[in-house]
Amino acid sequence: MSIAKPIPQHVAIIMDGNGRWAKQRGKERTEGHIAGVETIRTTLRAAMKSGVRYLTFYAFSTENWGRPKAEVEALMELLCKSVISETPELKKQGVSVRTIGDRSRFSERVQFYLNQIEQETREGERLTMVLALNYSSRDELRRAMQQLAQRVEKGELKAEEIDEKRISESLDTAFMPDPDLVIRTSGEQRLSNFLMWQASYAEFYFPEVLWPDFTEEEFERALEVYASRDRRYGLVK
Ligand code: IPE
Ligand code: IPE
Ligand code: MG
Repeated sequence: MSIAKPIPQHVAIIMDGNGRWAKQRGKERTEGHIAGVETIRTTLRAAMKSGVRYLTFYAFSTENWGRPKAEVEALMELLCKSVISETPELKKQGVSVRTIGDRSRFSERVQFYLNQIEQETREGERLTMVLALNYSSRDELRRAMQQLAQRVEKGELKAEEIDEKRISESLDTAFMPDPDLVIRTSGEQRLSNFLMWQASYAEFYFPEVLWPDFTEEEFERALEVYASRDRRYGLVK
């Protein structure tokens, strides 16, 4: 009798290495980001095939505003363009798109397209694709704490009623389960302010490959590695 391989319900990906990929080819960093969008497409396809339900991509951190202006602008342009071009296919495939992070810092134009893709894909039930945009864990926690403090101020909530569940429900990620598997490409082994609360019991996988070179096979390998891990949650098993 074969035992079913555990499939992570939620995979979160820190897409890293676009700049190095471009540099290796004597191209502009932006070319690396363009190549990276294609990898999002292939990864999404692989995730759907394997039965993953939530796929989160770290696309732009609160720290990334500090990059050269031209790169930030190119990333914003690429975001708008991709949203426009991908929406019909995502709809067809049953993918719903959500975002986490503080969208208020984006231009009206970017916000318009993000609202549009969320609206247009909201009925997708096969997989939820989550884009982390102007996201960082500390910023998310700061906003959640402010929100909880305001409720205490108004008398809606007692300070002692703030438990882990209420904190989780105040985060941007309240609509989805915690990630089971976090993948970071390019060989870097750090979180860079990503899902620090939510990844408390996630498994981590750090392939050396740069994000534009991450293939469907690489994704499948990540799932194999995940299946071989023994998640103990602090217990004796
Ligand atoms: C990840 O690739 C994409 C974003 C952060 C938007 P990088 O742009 O960080 O690529 P490297 O790390 O410089 O190679
Ligand atoms: C993390 O990558 C952010 C995203 C993938 C969007 P960075 O390339 O910005 O992170 P650091 O600077 O290497 O920590
Ligand atoms: Mg990087």
